[in-house]
Amino acid sequence: MCGIIGYMGKEDCIPQLLHALKIVEYRGYDSAGISCLDHGKLITIKTKGKIAKLETLLQHHPYHATIGIGHTRWATHGKPSTRNAHPHTYGHWSIIHNGIIENAHILKQECPEPFSSQTDSEVIAHLLEKNNHLRGIDCFRKVISQLQGTYAIAGLHEGEESMYVAKYKNPLYIAQNNESIMISSDLAVFYGKFYSYYCLEDHEIAMIQENSITFYNQQGKSIAKQSLTLQNVPQTISKGIYPYYMEKEIHEIPYVTQSTWQQFVEDENLLHNIPWQNYTCIHFIACGTAYHAGQMGAIYFEKYAHIPCKSSIASEFLYENTLFFPKTLYILISQSGETADTLSCCEKIKSHQCDTLAIVNVPHSRLSQIATYVLHTLCGPEMSVASTKVYTAQLTLLYLLATHIHIEQSIPIEQVQSILAFTDSITPIPSSFLPKIVSYKKILFVGKGEDYITAKEASLKFKEITYTHCLALPCGELKHGSLALIDADSLVIVICTKPNMIDKINTCMEEIKARNGHIWLVTNENKKKFAPFDAILSYPNWSTPLSAVTSIIPLQLLAYQTAVAKGLNPDQPRNLAKSVTVE
Ligand code: AGP
Repeated sequence: MCGIIGYMGKEDCIPQLLHALKIVEYRGYDSAGISCLDHGKLITIKTKGKIAKLETLLQHHPYHATIGIGHTRWATHGKPSTRNAHPHTYGHWSIIHNGIIENAHILKQECPEPFSSQTDSEVIAHLLEKNNHLRGIDCFRKVISQLQGTYAIAGLHEGEESMYVAKYKNPLYIAQNNESIMISSDLAVFYGKFYSYYCLEDHEIAMIQENSITFYNQQGKSIAKQSLTLQNVPQTISKGIYPYYMEKEIHEIPYVTQSTWQQFVEDENLLHNIPWQNYTCIHFIACGTAYHAGQMGAIYFEKYAHIPCKSSIASEFLYENTLFFPKTLYILISQSGETADTLSCCEKIKSHQCDTLAIVNVPHSRLSQIATYVLHTLCGPEMSVASTKVYTAQLTLLYLLATHIHIEQSIPIEQVQSILAFTDSITPIPSSFLPKIVSYKKILFVGKGEDYITAKEASLKFKEITYTHCLALPCGELKHGSLALIDADSLVIVICTKPNMIDKINTCMEEIKARNGHIWLVTNENKKKFAPFDAILSYPNWSTPLSAVTSIIPLQLLAYQTAVAKGLNPDQPRNLAKSVTVE
């Protein structure tokens, strides 16, 4: 959470910072700001609100600077406001921070001057100023050594053409070319401009000066670091013909499903590098949408691979009295590979000498570095806060693992090709549905088995971007309490993709109708087989056991189009951020 950016080079830094901030804006958009050195003088401009507001503000300030830092915030300590926005500038120092300084309240006692924000981060600027008598890097290192918690930090020092950066647990990357050096929380900022980058490790510090980067370890010794190649570089990150990333990303589902699958066609060792025969149990761990993918994975592995499975929400797993067995493989699923709860689970599992498999979308993310084994969903950057294409790629990958680890069968190429065939079938929800759905006071999503997991994911997506209170339940559970909610103001969205479930689903639909509830049915089965309903939502007719991929698409679109109809920005829902890097 929070995006941090820095630029040092030959060009004006402000357009560079603004461009990069827009790319990392998904990490938080409560407030934004920049600091730069204009002829050696420290200037800070910041505002509550999104990058667009900062951009307007900067048009009135014709600064000329070639070194600067920028920040986009997701509030933890102190509400979204201009004074709580980063950078925090105090005396000769200006800093930006992603993370939480857990001992901020103690450190503040060492700093006599009044604080101008409610943040935990401002104390870093005060401590730097307090130690300003030391040489730049010594001052920075001393302050960093006092911090407890998590951080990616960048600092500028007035009168010095240097930038200092440090990280612990939160990501920080540095890239260099002939023209410039940039720092960023996300590699996506480097695409199209840089061919290699450095991944700053925990406790490392870097000092960036004109054309040079010097790395230091925790003891303050300068160290050599290998640069890494930037792979799979998309030319640009853009919305293309779509008004929002979410719509574009839903339409990318066929392609990302195919590329995620295709990697195993091209290299079957990806499957066989993991010693599946060593494990008698699989435990899936993740958060939010990725947790739903894990729950679906547990169904697939029990059904196709005949291995007992368990699934846990990462933040719960951390505090459960889990019995660890070396014959269990712990599969951690994460789009970002940065989610703090999931990372902490990985560390906990490793401390019990058990194996972990990370399924991640962001290459080189921390989870992919610390897990025993790694597999990637090949979706490219997912910019919308609401995860869509990555969820379907996670399902595809888990299905593929479950069906192929025990039967030594090659990956059927015709199935891969058939996925592309349904690209054109992704069509919008008829607009007549939208005024109706916004009129319901209660919305329930129900299903059975895999369809219940789809109901949970659909409900999460709907509440996340439309701010509507909704609930997901297994069909059979309705009568054990929640049926009391059903009346003429309720809409129940019933998902049914399995013909053998239709009888049970019909019983549930009759119970809802008997209480005057409204029913929208999501199915690809013949509608005549179902009890009365009010409307039907169809989905791409791709006949496959992977119906969880196809049936979620109309539900993602329903959430998306409802949000747009309500005048909301589905890419940046309130109170949320894409990467949740705090526990
Ligand atoms: C998805 O729409 C959500 N924004 C959220 O639940 C997300 O899936 C969760 O925070 C996990 O993120 P991760 O996949 O990056 O670990």
